Amino acid sequence: MCGIFGIVTQDEQPLGPILIDAARRLTYRGYDSVGAATISGSKIDLRKDVGKVEDVAARYNFAEMTGSRGMTQLRWATFGEPSQVNSQPHLDSNGDMVGAHNGNVVNNVELRKEFIAEGMTVRSQNDGETCVHAVERYIKRGYEFIDAIRLAYGDLQGDYAFVIGRANDDKLYAFKKGSGMVIGIGDGFTCLSSDLPSILPLTRNVIRPQDGEIVTLWADRVEVRSVKDGKIIQRMPETVTESMDTVQKGGYPHFMLKEIHEQAQVARELIHLLDGSPDVQLLVEKMKSARHLYLIGCGTSYHAASVGSVYIAQLAGRAAIPVLAPQFIAQYAPAVGYEDVGIFVSQSGETKDVLNALEAAEKRGMACYGLANVVGSTLTKATSFCLPLCCGYEISVPATKTFTNQVVTFLYLAYRMAGLDTPPGLDTGFAHSTNGGYPSTGSRQRSTTSSGRRALDSIPDLMEQTIEMVGPQIEAIAKDINEWNDMYCLGYGATYPIALEGALKLKEITYAHCEGMLSTEFKHGPLSAVSKGFPIVFVAGPNDVPLIISGINEVKVRGARTITIGEEDARLRANGDDLVVIPKSDAQISALLGVLPLQLLSYHMSVMRGFDPDFPRNLSKTLTVD
Ligand code: M6R
Repeated sequence: MCGIFGIVTQDEQPLGPILIDAARRLTYRGYDSVGAATISGSKIDLRKDVGKVEDVAARYNFAEMTGSRGMTQLRWATFGEPSQVNSQPHLDSNGDMVGAHNGNVVNNVELRKEFIAEGMTVRSQNDGETCVHAVERYIKRGYEFIDAIRLAYGDLQGDYAFVIGRANDDKLYAFKKGSGMVIGIGDGFTCLSSDLPSILPLTRNVIRPQDGEIVTLWADRVEVRSVKDGKIIQRMPETVTESMDTVQKGGYPHFMLKEIHEQAQVARELIHLLDGSPDVQLLVEKMKSARHLYLIGCGTSYHAASVGSVYIAQLAGRAAIPVLAPQFIAQYAPAVGYEDVGIFVSQSGETKDVLNALEAAEKRGMACYGLANVVGSTLTKATSFCLPLCCGYEISVPATKTFTNQVVTFLYLAYRMAGLDTPPGLDTGFAHSTNGGYPSTGSRQRSTTSSGRRALDSIPDLMEQTIEMVGPQIEAIAKDINEWNDMYCLGYGATYPIALEGALKLKEITYAHCEGMLSTEFKHGPLSAVSKGFPIVFVAGPNDVPLIISGINEVKVRGARTITIGEEDARLRANGDDLVVIPKSDAQISALLGVLPLQLLSYHMSVMRGFDPDFPRNLSKTLTVD
């Protein structure tokens, strides 16, 4: 996840060391490239490259940079591979302005084309550069600087925070949309950052600007204006009291809990990104015309692929084969060819098992695409193209937000394969889908909620509601069942791989044995394990309640304690023990929401057992071995 920091000082001074320290404090967000720029009178000094803060700063001697304004940026690649030219900050065409952003400008590709057609010098693929040219466009049309920024804000779609400065000025300017931004007010300086950690050692007096506001920073004051009408908005600084460690974890005790709570926001950003991605339609066409379609991954990524397979069957009426990467080599690679399509799914993009499968598939001429979180990773380079998961850095070893964004991507692709959904602005006016989540294939309806919104757009809010609704109850259940070192997690249809994922999370961080299984399979053997109080979690899809109720009764009469995750339903309430209620939605979205209580259950049980959920024993975030 990119990070920006900017500072304005009273006098010209060595800013290099301040920028290096600020960049170091942003590293916990994750990054692949680093850059810094200082402005001194008419001179802009810009240095940047791919690499770690220490290496790039030493190689380009950031320490000698001076000025009265400076900025640094840590880049986590989304638009454009990690490279010197795509690193930030960026200059405008003439080198009079310099700017940097974090987040994603989703209409980057279209805007770049417009800027090139308007005669601007566009040097990179990166959307940070697009932000700079968006301001330049209006300067060229004769607008005052602040008005050019206001107009640029209207052109830049997505979720981001942006800072810009120009030669022969004494200020920096910043605005944000969707992403976070904090302004710091110190003694003889002002500063800004994507988040608190890079500001805290300098000052604890902060202002948090809102979307639709432009902040002008002088060394001794800041001014907040409305983008809409340019009017000044009064904002009083607040004093921050938290420690640095707490701030890095966003106030949460562990990264895992922070990442669980980030899921709604990263899903929102992902949906915006996919709406603006030219690769989506191309991938959808390939998936539709494939002889066989394989979804390949390991661990959590395999579970997301398995959910995706159910979505593609239910919504688009197509078979997609989910397969564990090493098994793909043995079972499918000998049979695949150029008419087949594989989507390789990975958070890290470096999992050796996945890369081995990719190599085997490519040897047979299969068309290979990817879904990866780490842009610039081996997978993103080795596939024809890779859709980014847009989650930023996932620090905690148990995958949470990358799983849900993988699932959201598959839902997005399934809707598009079925012709059930279109990005906003491309509304074809198809009728409202009313058949509860199992639409007839090829019906060319647009999937909307009862409020008329696209079903996809409701996901982030539903995720937020789920976390809020289930929180205290899940903590109480975790306490109740924590003594058990053996349990099961059962689901059916789209909730079957969700149950597998829940069981993996529980195993991974509680060190208890938890088996995920198709609910109907339980009677074929594991039923003999049930004794009094034995915990069994069911994830009930809204269309599968009668089937789940049979499963609940089978185990309850033998003494099991059942915990059902599902929508409010009198039948589930009457038959089982605990019902953990998630919001009402359709069958596909309900399955996605069902994983959130399981993530929280695992987290609380891990903490109650005295373990560190972020760094479970024996495990590594990236598995680059066979
Ligand atoms: O980076 P990847 O998605 O390829 O990693 C695959 C698995 O190692 C990973 O999902 C693992 O299962 C997670 N730590 C589970 O939380």
